Amino acid sequence: MTRPTTRRKGIILAGGTGSRLFPLTLAVSKQLMPVYDKPMIYYPLSALMLTGIREIAVITTPEDQAQFRKLLGDGSQWGISLSYIPQPSPDGLAQAYLLAEDFLAGAPSAMVLGDNIFFGHGLPELLASADAKPAGGTVFGYHVADPERYGVVAFDPDGKVREIIEKPAEPPSNYAVTGLYFLDGEAPERARAVRPSARGELEIVTLLESYLADGTLTVERMGRGFAWLDTGTHGSLLDAGNFVRTLSQRQGMQSGCPEEIAYEMGWIDADKMAEHARTYGKTEYGRYLARLISHPH
Ligand code: G1P
Repeated sequence: MTRPTTRRKGIILAGGTGSRLFPLTLAVSKQLMPVYDKPMIYYPLSALMLTGIREIAVITTPEDQAQFRKLLGDGSQWGISLSYIPQPSPDGLAQAYLLAEDFLAGAPSAMVLGDNIFFGHGLPELLASADAKPAGGTVFGYHVADPERYGVVAFDPDGKVREIIEKPAEPPSNYAVTGLYFLDGEAPERARAVRPSARGELEIVTLLESYLADGTLTVERMGRGFAWLDTGTHGSLLDAGNFVRTLSQRQGMQSGCPEEIAYEMGWIDADKMAEHARTYGKTEYGRYLARLISHPH
């Protein structure tokens, strides 16, 4: 694995009421739900770590913050730095940039939604190319069967992106915009100009539109070799868990494993890895970490 370094900071948006997963999420945050053997947030966190990002803010409801802290701590166990920002009311995805403005302090960012799961050979390269863009923004378009559930890309006949529309009743294409947004240091300032939509939210697509209008938004297609999984319904949550299980049992390799990424990036050493392996000693996860010390992939 290459070892990217970047000054980009990460944001994981893990707020919200999770009402579409009630009663599962009445007492526990959606992003802490299990996806097979790991809490959901491990997967989007891993995507940021694979980008080489080591400074990450986790945005949660004020009530849920303590549980996220308990799970993820200050990040030093993985050689990264995690901070926590409360979101008192979920007023739309673009609000994250307002809440994180001080944390970002002018730096470019990669924001990932805490319930988005990405897999794929070549993912580090795809992330690296988005990270390498000095100005503007990059988002990813993924072909789905049910685009009306997402932000959808409208293309001109020549393939140029014309518009991004949030949950259109009549989707102009099958390309959904995934919940992973690489934006430059202007994002908080631009977010301040976003006005609430008809449903009362500061829409991420409105923020993206502002980059699009300036010709500085790249929509990168995430091809069929990638899996972008959704955990928005009980069925898709179970499917995601089964997918992870199938993959890890067949390959004998983990996905969404922060310890593994930290070790391969050189952010933690073998002693630290051995400590992690002991912590999870009784599980397949622990045995996997122990094996990585002598046999990295
Ligand atoms: C949000 C965004 C949407 C995006 C999706 C990706 O929708 O508003 O544009 O396609 O995340 O997961 P939500 O899942 O909050 O309804």
